[in-house]
Amino acid sequence: MEAPDWWRDTVVYQIYPVSFKDTTGNGKGDLNGITSKLPYLKDLGVEVVWLSPVYASPMVDMGYDISNYREIYPDFGSMADWERMVEEAHRIGLKVVMDLVVNHTSDQHEWFQDAKNGGPKKDWYIWRRKNKEGKEPNNWGAIFGGSCWEWNDKLQEYYLHVFDVSQPDLNWENPVVREAVWDVMRFWLDKGCDGFRMDVINCISKTPGFPDAPVTDPQNPYQYGLIHRFNGPKVADHLLEMHEKVLRYYPNAFTVGEAPGVKSAEQALPLVKNGVPLQMLFHFEHMYIDHQPGKTCFNYKPWKLTELKDVLGKFMEFNQANGGWDSLYLENHDQPRIVSRWANDGLYRDVSSKMLAIFHATGRGTLFLYQGQEIGMANPTSWDFDELRDLEEIQYYEAVEAKNGDIQDALKQIQRIGRDNSRTPMQWNADVNAGFTSGTPWIKVNQDYKAWNVEAQSTSSGMSVLKFWKLVLRNRKEHPGLIRGKFEMVDYENENVYAYTRTDAIGQYLIVCL
Ligand code: GLC
Repeated sequence: MEAPDWWRDTVVYQIYPVSFKDTTGNGKGDLNGITSKLPYLKDLGVEVVWLSPVYASPMVDMGYDISNYREIYPDFGSMADWERMVEEAHRIGLKVVMDLVVNHTSDQHEWFQDAKNGGPKKDWYIWRRKNKEGKEPNNWGAIFGGSCWEWNDKLQEYYLHVFDVSQPDLNWENPVVREAVWDVMRFWLDKGCDGFRMDVINCISKTPGFPDAPVTDPQNPYQYGLIHRFNGPKVADHLLEMHEKVLRYYPNAFTVGEAPGVKSAEQALPLVKNGVPLQMLFHFEHMYIDHQPGKTCFNYKPWKLTELKDVLGKFMEFNQANGGWDSLYLENHDQPRIVSRWANDGLYRDVSSKMLAIFHATGRGTLFLYQGQEIGMANPTSWDFDELRDLEEIQYYEAVEAKNGDIQDALKQIQRIGRDNSRTPMQWNADVNAGFTSGTPWIKVNQDYKAWNVEAQSTSSGMSVLKFWKLVLRNRKEHPGLIRGKFEMVDYENENVYAYTRTDAIGQYLIVCL
């Protein structure tokens, strides 16, 4: 029998399907590619795989813009391929978690097609008239640039999109919308999906009255940021309803909510206390320490180790005292490679990746590995404009260009922090395109693949990063104190060493990272 809180001890592996393994030669990864690699994941020591979205989508935001929640994106395969993948995963003891993207849909979704023509689903989205000056209802800037509001001539109203103009926000105030979301969840859970990673789930409630955001950039009519767009007063109510209506009928389902702008464990607690309504959140506070506050990720700020301790140490200590639980992640499809970002991807790439593995796997929380992290994948050393695929990077570059800004610097910032860095194809072997595809990859392959790939690291005689990760994961399993033991920081003020202890009835572990 599975423990009711099995999800605390587990190891999740995030797959970015389009870049994982292509079996058709179309240059994009697919579901059959994932199925073919399940034994590799089992052998690595992970227990849950989370797939970034595989639903029907125009792919403006790489699948985070869904046009049909019950269909598979045809380039990834068919529903039968999905069923086979899940069956095979379950057969070898892996669980499959899907991405639930329900703050917004694609503008191609039939719900929005109906809404924008004034049909019965109009109130499924968020509409406002012009303000007194004949402009947008407020100064909110969209995450990917421009205003959060898009004018619809036919309806003489704007619709709200916190992300891209092609991603209209659903109106969670409308109970019929919530029922439609619960139906989507039941559909996948009943088909055998083992839970959800919930995309920007704290965006489903906005500040009532939609007040203007604070002005941080007076040159710009639209203010960048999350304030008033995220963390509205109904987030917890909506999620409790989700628990009541859906999740409690699937007590083994895994749940993690992505929650940018949740600043402290105290703020997170109502959403995760003792695993209800969600088991854990992805906060972003450690990912923000190298950004200037209130600005986009492309605005670098130097940071100190004590700032990182302040974030992660405090989250873990608070959660342990108050019935909360952390998610441990250093990479995902929105963040650059951690060895390039926080450590050294040159001479010390091997040893830095191993140090980060220890740091990552001995924190208090559920462990999330991102594809390629287990072999120490790094950011490509440069990007040309033509090579970029991510709309956030492209819109940033074009905004710099439009202002006659320094486009070389823009490319440098993209190389440092842009999302395409972690979206390059998985490096399986030293064959053409790193063994990812026999066709033309949809995004460039990192040219270091001949030396840094799964096959080389599996067969090398020494202790490769891959072998090290396997060892770390095995150790974590064999020493539950590393997961559930008491967490205490050591030498908090030290700017060169990150140290802590984990203690349980069996003993004490001292972890020292430098
Ligand atoms: C989340 C996803 C990201 C996407 C955004 C909008 O942050 O992780 O990739 O662009 O939501 O859906």
